[in-house]
Amino acid sequence: MESVKGKKVLLVGATGGIGRKTAALLRQSGAELFLSGRDAGKLNELALELSIPNSQTAVTDLTDPSSVEALLRSYQSVFTTIDVLVNASGIGIIKPLEQLSEEDFNRTLEVNLTAPFRLMKSFLPLMKQAGKGLVIHIPGVLGKVPMAGAAAYSASKYGLVGMMQSLREECKRTQIRFTMIYLGGVDSPFWDGIDLRVQRDKMIVSEEAAKAIWFLCQQPASGVVSEMVLQPFNHQAI
Ligand SMILES: NC(=O)c1ccc[n+]([C@@H]2O[C@H](COP(=O)([O-])OP(=O)(O)OC[C@H]3O[C@@H](n4cnc5c(N)ncnc54)[C@H](OP(=O)(O)O)[C@@H]3O)[C@@H](O)[C@H]2O)c1
Repeated sequence: MESVKGKKVLLVGATGGIGRKTAALLRQSGAELFLSGRDAGKLNELALELSIPNSQTAVTDLTDPSSVEALLRSYQSVFTTIDVLVNASGIGIIKPLEQLSEEDFNRTLEVNLTAPFRLMKSFLPLMKQAGKGLVIHIPGVLGKVPMAGAAAYSASKYGLVGMMQSLREECKRTQIRFTMIYLGGVDSPFWDGIDLRVQRDKMIVSEEAAKAIWFLCQQPASGVVSEMVLQPFNHQAI
């Protein structure tokens, strides 16, 4: 295991259920964190809680290219290199096709697929310069096994997996590592707006999902965990 102590970690989606817990664990382990989230209030509160200076945070709307450019500028005003990028952002619009609008579909792709593309365009060059780095995305099991009602969500997450697998090939001659974590249901605010009968008390708790990501941030120097699948044990789909 390679410690994250002193490592420069950009955590996108730090304000989410999984992101917040991941931020706390990485902070406790001595990572040099840069936090990004969309909601300024939640981001400030988290930074205060973890004693992270405001200069190491950026409010970012990932659907706005100029906001992602601003994130890169803010990041580079503090750090010149990046060791780990964790993308814990995303949205879930889970509805049957009759209720799924084109706007829902496009919005899902925009946040879950185009935004990661923007992040890769902005931050992979920093890793390429150094010839190393680690990128962690969270496609979730719906990026591996489809579920009824998840046409937009699964399309975005399967797309994310395809994009990352292609980038992995592009970066083959570098020591940049790419990890996909396929989480099953995690009890987080993600589910608040989803009209589906789910048993949140049977889901993975967000602390445990965060621990898995924290573990993945400390992969052995000579190896890579390309994929990890973590599901509620009563709910195994794959
Ligand atoms: N929860 C699950 O069951 C589950 C299972 C598998 C995979 N996942 C994946 O895990 C990741 C994190 O999920 P979560 O459970 O932590 O969800 P969450 O609590 O809803 O958090 C989502 C995060 O994404 C951010 N976000 C959403 N739209 C954004 C935008 N346009 N620009 C910038 N940030 C945006 C939110 O920012 P603000 O809060 O600041 O608005 C928040 O930080 C997502 O990719 C999700 O698809 C979740």
